[in-house]
Amino acid sequence: MATNAPAAIQLADRVSRVASSITLAITGKAGALARQGVDVVSFGAGEPDFDTPQFIKDAALKALAKGQTKYTPVPCIIELKQAIAAKFSAENGLDYGVDCVTVTPGGKAALFFAMLALLNDGDEVLIPAPYWVSYPEQVKLCGGVPRFVHAEESADFKLTPAQLDAAITPRTKIVIINSPNNPTGNCYSPLELEALAAVLAKHDHIVVFSDEIYEKLLYGGQETASIATMHPALFDRTITFNCHSKSFAMTGWRLGYAGGPRAIIAAMDKLQGQINSHVTSFTQLPAAVALTDPRGVESIEAMREQFEKRGEHMWKRLLAIDDITCVRPRGAFYCFANVSAHFGKVSGEAIITDAVTFAARLLEAHHVAVIPGNDSGFDTHVRLSFATSMEQIDKGLDRLEAFVKSLKLHHTTAF
Ligand SMILES: Cc1ncc(COP(=O)(O)O)c(C=O)c1O
Repeated sequence: MATNAPAAIQLADRVSRVASSITLAITGKAGALARQGVDVVSFGAGEPDFDTPQFIKDAALKALAKGQTKYTPVPCIIELKQAIAAKFSAENGLDYGVDCVTVTPGGKAALFFAMLALLNDGDEVLIPAPYWVSYPEQVKLCGGVPRFVHAEESADFKLTPAQLDAAITPRTKIVIINSPNNPTGNCYSPLELEALAAVLAKHDHIVVFSDEIYEKLLYGGQETASIATMHPALFDRTITFNCHSKSFAMTGWRLGYAGGPRAIIAAMDKLQGQINSHVTSFTQLPAAVALTDPRGVESIEAMREQFEKRGEHMWKRLLAIDDITCVRPRGAFYCFANVSAHFGKVSGEAIITDAVTFAARLLEAHHVAVIPGNDSGFDTHVRLSFATSMEQIDKGLDRLEAFVKSLKLHHTTAF
């Protein structure tokens, strides 16, 4: 039987400080339509549509068979720390050592524990927009204040060094750099990162969060680097975040990790020790295997190639639709399309006023789910994920094209 708390029981204030997700509302609606038998095309997915590679699953079966089902040290077994430290060193040029890395339940938790370890009430966190939806909410949960700096679409949604410099204040405690980026699909080149690093190096009160979880998914010859390697002053005050979710199609395993200054990593582990102890024990060896077995590289490349073809295709088709602009995706698996030229038009009884109403009508009338950019700081754009098959991409874009063609200009009567 359903139950509810008596009216006298109040939830903590922090719950109301966190915004409800528009993304969840749209995906919930799309799910409900699909359950009613409607043929919905979803461009909402924030995860690879591929399965976890078999050799990683086999390692998990082996771990279970060996009885690796008990508590492990906080945050994980030494083999996993060693694999992560070796990965950071070989692939990113970051020599952290095992006491400067940690493992968390997903990349999301790594970011959260780092904020929890660093933020005092009122500390400010600078977040370049468009941004991943959880950053500001996590900041607020940790007592911090999110501050935004908007990148320009004409600059491929990349922050310029001057914009970054102007946005930093004495109250800024953390700056978040997410490249390759969700939701825009942009990616800073090593040269661009170097210029941003030069700005950050001047402000020695700032900790840099470098969210590199999409680092393996790069397209069109795009190159990138870890910002912590870009200036000698940054290594000791940058935390580099990564996870298995996107690179190895392991979103449901909840495996994230981070490397950074020993004291901050130790603080994160102290907090984890009282909250979740460690990640699931029988995922720890497979997580190390994913990073060390050469089949890991092969499986990532096979997935990346597919994403590259789909991303190019989706982007070209979007550009062919009337009055939609879109920056070419260079990483991750998202196109971030500007649909604002259609605002003020009418669909059925509804007037399209922003990305939310655009997405809502597209779903209701043409059964295509896209994510409005409002939760990412841009109410003029929608995010389309190309982590879905070519057939679905074509079907969904045919429908999007038909939707845009069906929009009518709104005539108001002047009195
Ligand atoms: C930019 C960014 N950072 C972090 C995460 C969190 O990843 P995880 O699923 O490992 O928690 C996501 C997930 O979508 C993301 O897009």
